[in-house]
Amino acid sequence: MAVSAPPLPNFAAAPVTVRDQFGRQLRYLRVSVTDLCNLSCQYCNPAKGCPQTHPHKLSWDDLYFVADVAVRDLGVEAIRVTGGEPTVRPGLTEWIASISTLPGLRDIAMTTNGILLGKLAQPLREAGLRRVNVSLDSFDEEKFRTLTRGGSLARCMEGIDRACDLFDRVKINCVLLRDVNSGEIEQFIRFSDERGIEVRFIELMPIFDQKEFFHRHFMSVDEVKSLMAARGMHLEADTAHGYGPATSFRVAGSRARVGFISQMSDTKCLTCNKLRTTSDGSLKACLLSPQEIDLSPLIAARDRDAFASALRGSFLQRAERYDLQQILSQPVPRAMQAIGG
Ligand code: 5AD
Repeated sequence: MAVSAPPLPNFAAAPVTVRDQFGRQLRYLRVSVTDLCNLSCQYCNPAKGCPQTHPHKLSWDDLYFVADVAVRDLGVEAIRVTGGEPTVRPGLTEWIASISTLPGLRDIAMTTNGILLGKLAQPLREAGLRRVNVSLDSFDEEKFRTLTRGGSLARCMEGIDRACDLFDRVKINCVLLRDVNSGEIEQFIRFSDERGIEVRFIELMPIFDQKEFFHRHFMSVDEVKSLMAARGMHLEADTAHGYGPATSFRVAGSRARVGFISQMSDTKCLTCNKLRTTSDGSLKACLLSPQEIDLSPLIAARDRDAFASALRGSFLQRAERYDLQQILSQPVPRAMQAIGG
């Protein structure tokens, strides 16, 4: 008579990890929850607007599925909520609350323009959001309005104030723009010192049909470093907080902290740990690559295995690094607004 084997002890599921041949582990998913934005920043969105697909092709339930598979089946530890502007989509707070309890998810952060944060910071905090990065590219009201095509600096500042009161960590995202905000570097450092929050200087990328804007305004992180050194500001290495690609420094003798995101002059491919999903359900393994895969049918069908395997496959097939020259020679098919900055 066959003797059946004793039942296996019930070990807790081993933590899942997805690691590619270059040793990079998938840890981080950037989820765009909408294409819509209440601003229209010049570096992000062409003047004529970007072609809109369905701004909310994925429902909140669909987006829960995306986060759930990434965290539970693939070991993603951190989710960044992006847009468009995530705060313009009703239901954001409830969605954040729903994903905040996913086992294994250690960090939920959001990139926002801050315009609606004055009102939403409190409920978002209660829902489980711990960190925000707020885009702020100028302290000059007029410049701010022009750059954002109509935005109010005062509203953005109000949002930053509220965020500083409520969140564990607030960072400022400043896209470096020659002849636009290149004269405000010291002001950004002073702001960082006063508030005790990190300012991240981000190199401009040629997104969508922005080649001309890019060539006119691109400024490298090295240039900012030299400018700071010339003004007597000395950088001391700091430990980076978060999952992103910034290299962080303290400014000697002050509370100011500066992060540099130099994806154009010094790609961070070798340590890239992330994937991105767009609000219409496409997967992008690299921000600057035109390649994307439409996963909306798998999401709609709740095909957990196929969806997980598509994410895993995309991550594992990434090139060791991207070829910037090649990227610069071809149009990127989506505006940043439709990818998630
Ligand atoms: N270049 C660099 N960063 C960009 N972002 C959007 N468009 C660009 C671009 N062309 C990023 C910025 C901004 C966030 C919303 O997206 O960090 O703060």
